[in-house]
Amino acid sequence: MLYDVASLQRWVQARLSPSRYAHTSRVVRTAREIADAFGVKAEEAEVAALLHDCARDMSRQVQLRLAEGFGIVISDMELYNPVLLHAPLGAELARRECGVHRESVLNAIRFHTTGRPGMSLLEKVIFVADYIEPGRDFPGVERVRESALVDLDEAMLRALDQTIAYVLERAQLLHPITLETRNDLILRRLKREGCE
Ligand SMILES: [Fe+2]
Ligand SMILES: [Fe+2]
Repeated sequence: MLYDVASLQRWVQARLSPSRYAHTSRVVRTAREIADAFGVKAEEAEVAALLHDCARDMSRQVQLRLAEGFGIVISDMELYNPVLLHAPLGAELARRECGVHRESVLNAIRFHTTGRPGMSLLEKVIFVADYIEPGRDFPGVERVRESALVDLDEAMLRALDQTIAYVLERAQLLHPITLETRNDLILRRLKREGCE
C-alpha cells in the first residue's frame, strides 16, 4: 500500500461539502468495481477517485488564485466554463499537498471532466465512474452503466456523446478536447476493425 488512504479520506472530507463527499465515496466504490473488471490497479483507482473532485467546492476566486500560483495554463475555456478548472487544479493539489506523484493517477484526476485523446485505462475508469456512480440519475445514464463493466470504450463514447449533446442543446461552450477524445475513440475502433 503506497498511500495512506485513511488520511487522504480525511483530507478530502475537510475540503468538500457532505453531499460532494458522498458523491466522491460513490465514485471510489464504482471506480474500484470498474478497475477490477479491467485489471486496473485498485489502489490507483481508489486514490484517483478519492481526490478527483478535491478542488470542486472551492470558490471561483480561490480556484483561480491557486491555479495561477501553480502555473496552470488557464485558457478562455476554463475562464468562461468555470466547472472545468477543478480537474487540473485537483491534480496539482493532489501532487503538492497529498504527495501523489504518480503521473498515471494525477492524469486521471486532471482529465476526469474533459477526457483527452489516448486516455489510459485508469483515466477511463475514473471518467466513467464519475459519470455513472449510483447517485447519478439523468436520461441516458443507464446506457453508460450497461457497458461500463463490459466495454469501457463504448461506455466512454456513450458518456461523451451524451455530454456533447447536452452542451449543444444548451448552447454552452464545448471544450475541443472533449470532441477530440470522442473522435479518437472512434478512430481507434475503426483502425482496429481495419477500416482505415
Ligand atoms: Fe469533477
Ligand atoms: Fe465528480
